Amino acid sequence: MTQLIDKAKLIRVTNKRYRQNFHIITPEGWLNDPNGLCYFQGYYHVFYQFHPYSAEWGPMHWGHVRSKDLVNWEQLPVALVPGDPEDKGGCFSGSAIVKGNRLYLIYTGHHYYDDGNLDHFWENQNVAYSDDGIHFTKYTDNPIISVPKDNTQHFRDPKVWELDGQYYLVIGSQDKEKLGRILMYKSKDLLNWEYLGPIAKSHGQETEGSMWECPDFFRLNGQDVLICSPMGIKPTEKKYLNVSQTGYFVGQLDYKQPKFRRNNFSELDYGHNFYATQTFVDPTGRRILFGWMSPFDEEMLEKPDGWAGSLTIPRELKLDGDHLRMLPLKEYQQLRTKKIYDTNLQLAKSKKLDLPDIQHSELLIESELNTNDQLKWSLLENEEEILSLNYDQKNGELTLYRKGKDSFRYAQIKKTNQLKLHIFIDTSSVEIFVNDGEAVFTERYYTQKKLLTQFSTNGTLNVNVIAFNLKK
Ligand code: FRU
Repeated sequence: MTQLIDKAKLIRVTNKRYRQNFHIITPEGWLNDPNGLCYFQGYYHVFYQFHPYSAEWGPMHWGHVRSKDLVNWEQLPVALVPGDPEDKGGCFSGSAIVKGNRLYLIYTGHHYYDDGNLDHFWENQNVAYSDDGIHFTKYTDNPIISVPKDNTQHFRDPKVWELDGQYYLVIGSQDKEKLGRILMYKSKDLLNWEYLGPIAKSHGQETEGSMWECPDFFRLNGQDVLICSPMGIKPTEKKYLNVSQTGYFVGQLDYKQPKFRRNNFSELDYGHNFYATQTFVDPTGRRILFGWMSPFDEEMLEKPDGWAGSLTIPRELKLDGDHLRMLPLKEYQQLRTKKIYDTNLQLAKSKKLDLPDIQHSELLIESELNTNDQLKWSLLENEEEILSLNYDQKNGELTLYRKGKDSFRYAQIKKTNQLKLHIFIDTSSVEIFVNDGEAVFTERYYTQKKLLTQFSTNGTLNVNVIAFNLKK
């Protein structure tokens, strides 16, 4: 039986102060991971982990939006509602694939043993399908995949793809030694799946994690890439500073064994708020990623307003050697309404700018630095810095500061004299793309005060700054 949403129980949005303008957010209620990214019958579809009855994580539904251009999104009815025997405790993350004229969603059914312990659960994999891209029917013979014997209860987030008429999927898993790993399956029809075994495994709980969530596997620029979200990696002085990470391995998958020979784990984004990504290929062949701006343990000030959570803007992935870069989609130029600044700043120490509606803007900043120069971009509330990014030419280090607890995040780029920052600011997020996506920082922030922009340097510097307001 297909479950229905109870409209009378929906939480309401009571205040719009932190609502995002050009990011995917919920109409009301809680959001986490992006799910089911695909292109189907002329529309891009994005689903997301959704709890419509409160601004807290709860029994997971699949929220749904679609778009003709990846920029403007239309809200659709909830696609999956939990409560059927195979997804009683939630419709957890999963992916989508088009076969013939049908859109298939493959997702995790979450189940509690109902003993009051939320860690006491089991998980299986299920299918739902749709011929119009709006209404979904759960497959009557769910589950399609059950947990293998050598696994713990952590068995979720199937990501499906097709290669030469054969379907494959990877699932996030934990083995009995409590190490994260990725399991692989194959199928001819998306309904009957054969288990092929683990293709990659963590080398140690503290170094590579104890559970690998949200795997994604694809080929890019002649290499195979595995993105996943390991839990439990121990922070070092400047790396792995969030509660969990999203990152990637580059290598080659031998489909016959199957085994993924891979290099070391690298973080994909260095900000405070980035997790549980998913990718898909658009009709022009671009590999596009969305992530969840995860708060981890942070307070989310929009919760009292009846909603919580935001996806990132979509980012195109490019692989250079072993380095995966993320770039904002060109389509986002459509959002520009007005050029509000275009100047070559002759910077001596610092310069403050009062740009109109900076909270809905895009900044393009370029500078040629000399040896040992530093350049810092900041957002100021009154005189106080609430967010900044500093580049130090001496060692190629980027330091992100955000006001509040646990303020600093770091990234290392190739030491260079050319610095380019491409920044998207929305009501409660900032995304900073450095040197064509060599490093990216994703941040949530909250303010109701007017913000100023500031540039500072340790000496003198020419900085070219272009700024646009973005559609509201
Ligand atoms: C990642 C995650 C997934 C899971 C989903 C549940 O944020 O924990 O592993 O499917 O969230 O909402």
